[in-house]
Amino acid sequence: MSGRVVDVALLESLLSDSGCFVANHCSSRFHMDSPHIKRSLLFHLALGLRKISGSPKYPVGHICGLRSRKVTRQAVSSQQLQILCSCCTQSDGAVPLVLLPPLPPLPPLLSAAFAGSATYSPSFVGKSVASQKKMEKSSHLLVLYASQTGNAMDAAECVGREAERGGCPSVQVLPIDCFDASCLPDEEIVIFVVSTTGQGDVPDSMKVFWRFLLQRNLSNQWLEGLHYAVFGLGDSGYQKYNFSAKKLDKRLSDLGAKPLIEKGLGDDQHTSGYEGALDPWLLSLWKMLNTVQPNILPRVSDIMDPSKRSLDHAKIEVIYHSSDEMQPDLLTAHYLESVEKVIESACSMSPAQFHYHEKKPQYLLQLITNQRLTNVDHSRDVRHFEFEASSNVIDYQVGDVLEILPSQNPAAVDAFIQRCNLDPNCYITVKARDAEKQSISKSIKSLVRPIKLKNFVELTMDVASASPRRYFFEVMSFYATAEHEKERLQYFASPEGMDDLYQYNQRERRTVVEVLEDFPSVQMPFEWLVQLVPPLKTRAFSISSSPSVHPNQVHLTVSIVSWTTPFKRKRHGLCSSWLAGLDPFKSSGVCIPAWVTRGSLPPPPPSLPLILIGPGTGCAPFRAFVEERALQDMTRSTSPILFFFGCRNQSVDFLYKNFWLAHAQDDGVLSADKGGGFFVAFSRDQPQKIYVQHKMNEESKRIWSLLSSGAAIYIAGSSTKMPADVTSTLEEIIAVESGMSKDSAARWLRLLEKAGKFFIEAWS
Ligand SMILES: Cc1cc2nc3c(=O)[nH]c(=O)nc-3n(C[C@H](O)[C@H](O)[C@H](O)COP(=O)(O)OP(=O)(O)OC[C@H]3O[C@@H](n4cnc5c(N)ncnc54)[C@H](O)[C@@H]3O)c2cc1C
Ligand SMILES: Cc1cc2nc3c(=O)[nH]c(=O)nc-3n(C[C@H](O)[C@H](O)[C@H](O)COP(=O)(O)O)c2cc1C
Repeated sequence: MSGRVVDVALLESLLSDSGCFVANHCSSRFHMDSPHIKRSLLFHLALGLRKISGSPKYPVGHICGLRSRKVTRQAVSSQQLQILCSCCTQSDGAVPLVLLPPLPPLPPLLSAAFAGSATYSPSFVGKSVASQKKMEKSSHLLVLYASQTGNAMDAAECVGREAERGGCPSVQVLPIDCFDASCLPDEEIVIFVVSTTGQGDVPDSMKVFWRFLLQRNLSNQWLEGLHYAVFGLGDSGYQKYNFSAKKLDKRLSDLGAKPLIEKGLGDDQHTSGYEGALDPWLLSLWKMLNTVQPNILPRVSDIMDPSKRSLDHAKIEVIYHSSDEMQPDLLTAHYLESVEKVIESACSMSPAQFHYHEKKPQYLLQLITNQRLTNVDHSRDVRHFEFEASSNVIDYQVGDVLEILPSQNPAAVDAFIQRCNLDPNCYITVKARDAEKQSISKSIKSLVRPIKLKNFVELTMDVASASPRRYFFEVMSFYATAEHEKERLQYFASPEGMDDLYQYNQRERRTVVEVLEDFPSVQMPFEWLVQLVPPLKTRAFSISSSPSVHPNQVHLTVSIVSWTTPFKRKRHGLCSSWLAGLDPFKSSGVCIPAWVTRGSLPPPPPSLPLILIGPGTGCAPFRAFVEERALQDMTRSTSPILFFFGCRNQSVDFLYKNFWLAHAQDDGVLSADKGGGFFVAFSRDQPQKIYVQHKMNEESKRIWSLLSSGAAIYIAGSSTKMPADVTSTLEEIIAVESGMSKDSAARWLRLLEKAGKFFIEAWS
């Protein structure tokens, strides 16, 4: 039996060209009995066939005869489409798993999409639906990940790679928002890799999935056929450590699914980051799978054996263009417009497609003030920055966060390009090699235009700040021509070499450029570099201005990051030191790409009494709150604010001293006359350490009185210990002042949180 092989991408574009709207293919999905087929593509294929052929021979309903079946939207392989096309001729709309005679000749354009080797004979032709279904399911491993900033995606890809090495016949690694939660019961084994964000929240990409799982009408047997494993990525510095993974694990189990092994919890605080926990957890998982389902993972030993490692091709394809292919709009665009377009195009092509914001920068900001807030001779450098938008109005509210895409040092970018023998001026586009990924990013395909390789590197590849992951070293080992380098790289990539890799790489914050310099015999293809160089990430900063007080400006309060490594190498935070180095009078041409996002601190209404705790740069959002309330106070009555600030010494790092003191007197919004208060803890101005918690204890009556009158609590600043210590102090205060037990006080605070009156914005 023969059929046609389909070029899905071509087919899609033909359908679009012929006036069929090819919708976002990720929006919904079906699950045919065996192959996974994207429903919307099928639907549009049907429409397209009908439209192009002008014949009702391919009624949509026939293809949508799939409708009653459950199908994941996932892959549309050429084979599956071919089966589908054969199925289209069915008159009853059913979808049998046998190939029917080939379709009548296709219209010429469409048949181009079905070009190629023209024959395909699926091995299961003639087999019963049930046995095929069983065979496909029982050897399939699905890895679903939910990531906010990319780590869980890396971890999930590592899971997929190891499963393939262990001989798993069918592995799929998918972002969780590309999987329909209602199809979970059809899966037999799913590995979840999920990070935690905000304050114990699931990543944005997991929200829909999570809401679905929380539905009350799902029975406790709904997932009884599912075996699962959960690996979480989190940071034990946060109070709600790895909450996403913990909540997911519990919910899956409540719905009847069976855990293959105990959940794994990766911790940023571990010396090797999340990989410290991932490695042993994966080994246990593979051993378990090998025992209970050897057909899924037949060869655990291959995973551990470096000699069994081979290098597949990179997932990325780089297409080189001649300069006359350049889009005219890019050449003729106004300067700012072209900057925006280049950034949009670069971000759209970056393999790190996890960014939740728009690819195009919302704002191109100009720095208008760069003022040091700490004494020049103090080791800590904290700056007050003011920005203005170059063209549009900056739309934000107090409590919001500004995300900035930092600029890399041009010399480092040049060094990387030279080291890798790349042509900085050639025009490139970058895309995922497999059609699946392409269709996932279909909605942004139109944003992709050729850009200079140098622009792509500087905007998307962090070559001189972040440290590469372990897989980078593994791939390097395949390209090392010097034997000693190969050996060293193989060792670094092995589980035994993990600690040494940590000492060499992460602990020293070794950059890609430095690593490549240390292994001069390695010449990696650009595709691999695009895939593996850490993505250049935006940096988040709490906005410290009120938009009502500073229209079209946005202010930040930024600690300039720098530290010395164990080998005495001076390291600097990329974004903060870049901003600190900008001179508003000389850098007027510098555009700072930025996005405003909602943080964890909602803007409080003027009538809400507030207890704010923000030591160090944690005061940033509260400067905005106080500014806003002071403005509101001029026209209406407002509720009081108690603000607790902390720093080391009164004379060196008392950030915005005059601002706070001004609002704390003369009927200001922090003044005692207004029922408010401003309290500072100078931790090092006396022999014993004094922190915000101590000041809070001193004011415990006022805190309890304000809480009793309906106040909300906002905490911002370092995630290391502060939020936990402050929360514990609040519990003590509530217990002492109200006479409750400490447990009841803790419950009281949890209820406050549920009522939307307790917020934390913390960062490491
Ligand atoms: C929602 C939110 C709001 C924030 N608000 C603010 C704010 O208002 N003000 C502010 O200053 N910051 C704020 N931050 C933190 C800020 O985003 C980070 O500090 C950011 O990493 C700074 O960017 P950078 O490029 O300068 O440093 P990066 O290049 O990102 O370097 C920072 C990294 O360097 C490493 N590092 C730093 N110090 C050391 C050390 N001593 N030893 C070893 N490694 C070290 C750590 O891995 C750290 O993550 C906020 C973060 C979030 C998530
Ligand atoms: C803004 C922010 C909030 C975070 N909140 C938490 C949290 O509440 N609990 C936790 O365990 N980890 C928290 N983390 C740590 C992340 O989960 C951790 O860095 C993880 O590796 C990120 O994975 P991802 O890149 O896949 O999102 C937070 C990190 C950031 C930047």
